[in-house]
This record gives sequence, C-alpha cells and structure tokens, in this order.
Amino acid sequence: MIPSVVITSDILYQRYAELLHAIGDLRVYMQGQRVPLHGVDYHLEEGFRLSANIAYPEIDSSGSSFFFHTIEEVLAFIRAFPRPSVHIPKRIEEGAALLSQGKLVAFPTETVYGLGGDATNVEAVKRIFEAKERPTFDPLIVHIANLEQLKGVVLDWDERAQTLAEHFWPGPLTLVVKKDPAIDNLVTANSQTVAVRMPANPIARSLIALSGKPIAAPSANLFGQTSPTTAGHVHEQLAGRIDAIVDGGSCTVGIESTVLSLVSETPTILRPGKIGMKELLPFLPNLALAPQIGMADAPLESPGLLDNHYAPKTPLFLVDDLSQYAHRKDLGILLFENSTLSFEGEVIFISKTADAAEAARTLYWAMRTLDQKNLTALIAKRLPNEGIGLAINNRLEKAASKHGSVPS
Ligand code: TXA
Ligand code: MG
Repeated sequence: MIPSVVITSDILYQRYAELLHAIGDLRVYMQGQRVPLHGVDYHLEEGFRLSANIAYPEIDSSGSSFFFHTIEEVLAFIRAFPRPSVHIPKRIEEGAALLSQGKLVAFPTETVYGLGGDATNVEAVKRIFEAKERPTFDPLIVHIANLEQLKGVVLDWDERAQTLAEHFWPGPLTLVVKKDPAIDNLVTANSQTVAVRMPANPIARSLIALSGKPIAAPSANLFGQTSPTTAGHVHEQLAGRIDAIVDGGSCTVGIESTVLSLVSETPTILRPGKIGMKELLPFLPNLALAPQIGMADAPLESPGLLDNHYAPKTPLFLVDDLSQYAHRKDLGILLFENSTLSFEGEVIFISKTADAAEAARTLYWAMRTLDQKNLTALIAKRLPNEGIGLAINNRLEKAASKHGSVPS
C-alpha cells in the first residue's frame, strides 16, 4: 500500500510533527513542497479539518471536508481511509448494498449520525426500533437523496412544501406532511403524517441514492440518550446491534434537524434546530413554535418532544451563575466563552468566543466526553435564546436533570 500523503501548513506541521511521524504509513508535506506522483490524499487545516477530493457515487459534489475534535481523531480517520478517493466511495457502496438488503447502517449527516434502514421494508424498520430500544410510539424521519424519492412517501406535496424544499434542501430541515399509504404505520407510529428530510452530508446522500430506497433514520443512539456526532459515539452504544457504521468524521451542525409540521393549519416548529424562525418566517408568515418544555398536560404533537431526552448519565444542571462552582473539583463545566474564572473541575469549551454554531457542533461531544470522567455532576449556563442558541437551550433543558440542584 502506498502511504497516505497529507499536506499541511508550516504551523500545523510543527505543532503535530511528532504525532504525524509516529504513523509509519503517512507522508506529511508542508504547503509548497513537492509531493509524490500519485498525488495528495488529504489537506490538514486549522480546526482539525481534513479536505479530500472525492467523487461521490450517484450525486453531484466536488471535494469534501471532514471535521474532527482532536488530532487523534484525525489520525484515526486517515488510517481508516488511507486513500479517500477510493476507500470512501467503496465504504458507501458497501453500506448501500447492506441497506438495500434490509440491513441497518449508521451514517453521518450534517446534524447527527443516523441509524438507517429501508423505510419500505417493515422488517428493517422493526430492527431499527429494537436496536435503539426505542418505543414504537416515537415515529421515524424518512431520508431521501432527491425529490423523485418523495414518490411513495408523501401525499399532498403542496407549494409551501416545494418552496421550502427548494430553499433548504439538502439541509437540516425536516418537513412533516401527509403520508403515502405505502409507508407502513410502524414508520410513522400510526400517524397519517410522515417526517421527511434530504440531508446535506454527501456521504448520507450518496448512500441513500445508491441504495435506491427512502431511508428511515432516527439518531443512532440508544433511546433517550445523547445523539451521536462521531462514528465512535455510534460504536459505543450500538456496536453488535447493527450491521455497519460509515465513518464521516464529526457532524458539522451537531444538533438534530428542525422539525416543521405543515399538517396543522398553522405551520409549526415541533423541534427547533439550526433553521429557525428567522429563516422560515419569510416563507411562512403564520409560523408558530410548539410548546417545548414542562408541558406535561399538553398533548404531544411530536412524541420525541418528551421532556427527558438527550441525557448524559452524569446528571446535568443548568445554572445562572457558574462562579459559585469554580472551586468544585468533582464537576464538569461546559463553557460557552473564555472566562476569567479559574475552574478546578473539568472544563470543556463548547466555544471560546460565544459562537453558537461552534457550540452546537461541540455540545454532544463535550457532554459525552465529560460523561466518561466519573464526575458528580455537569453544569452549564443557557446560551442567549436566539438563532441556534434557542435550539441548544432546548437540548440542554431536556438533557438536564429534572429534580433537585447540584449535589454538594
Ligand atoms: O437531524 C435529524 O433529524 C436526525 C438525523 C439522523 O437526520 N434524526 C433524528 O431522528 O433526530 P430522531 O428519530 O432521533 O428524531 C425525530 C423526531 C422525533 O422527535 C419524532 O417524534 C419526530 O421527529 N417525528 C418523526 N415523525 C414525525 C411525525 N410524523 N409527526 C411529528 N413528529 C415526527
Ligand atoms: Mg433521537
């Protein structure tokens, strides 16, 4: 096997030289150096980003970027796919073949990893619920790679739906519309509506297109727990329960798609996400946001809106003043910006600059990382309630412990 060729900047080269050279089957060059004849496999950029030139089967896309949280994740990815232009399409082909045989394949989307199965194969759909230990009252989102795949999935695709699809797809927006009778009631938890989305991640779209099936895919975690944003997260909870995991690095949005219902008279956001009120209002002037928290008496419009969700095992508490806890060695602290306080506990920055998009991308990884450190509790402060900050707060509220306060 020819070693992988990675090009990087002088600064990154110096920062990681030792680690990079510890991998025997890797050749690292600085920008401007002459590279071997067979060309370059990856460019390593700031922010643990790898870019590669990949022709994805069945879809239009040029180039590709993979994002990671640590240099170790970067190196593991290069080792898994030394020749990305060959090995990634091959992995997609294997995954697509499994999906079309009714097997379960976890794959990256721009939001979180999904656990995919053929939405038109009831046995496959049953196995999705079993693998996740998900109750059958919680319906699945059907993922498509192109608009032709709406056929046999939805009914009454109106002008509003078409306009939204043209504007926001592929992307992190799920539309709830009337379902085609061909979609089994198990997929939709007996509802006559179905949730559909066309993901932006090229691996996801290529996999779905190549399988030739609409793909039912909930987040690839055990029911009620934190959604996975890396292939490693999927492996931790679902290895042995599913047939394959396609690695695509870390998810770039990092929290689940906006779920928008077009069924009710008033279009309603059932689950907030990256695409929010501001983006949707120009298309839907009478848009509403469904009540989200503490709605024990209200009927659930979206069963996944259950209060207790996305939860780490270590109890999480939302606090107004983090400084009170600075001396506690036994706490994990999620920080949204640089702080003048010095915390004695385990700190993870979900952003250093109060960048909400970065915080969304890092949140679940940070929660899972802290969850493994045997801490008494995790603490976080709500973000400003605007844009994707509102969606992050929604996930924090649900992940948070519903009773008591930070144990002393
Ligand atoms: O970003 C995402 O949406 C990810 C990726 C994999 O695409 N998927 C995801 O799926 O988060 P899941 O199953 O974890 O969450 C789907 C949400 C649940 O809250 C579910 O109740 C709601 O969508 N949902 C699905 N079908 C629905 C329907 N027919 N009516 C109302 N809500 C529905
Ligand atoms: Mg989920």
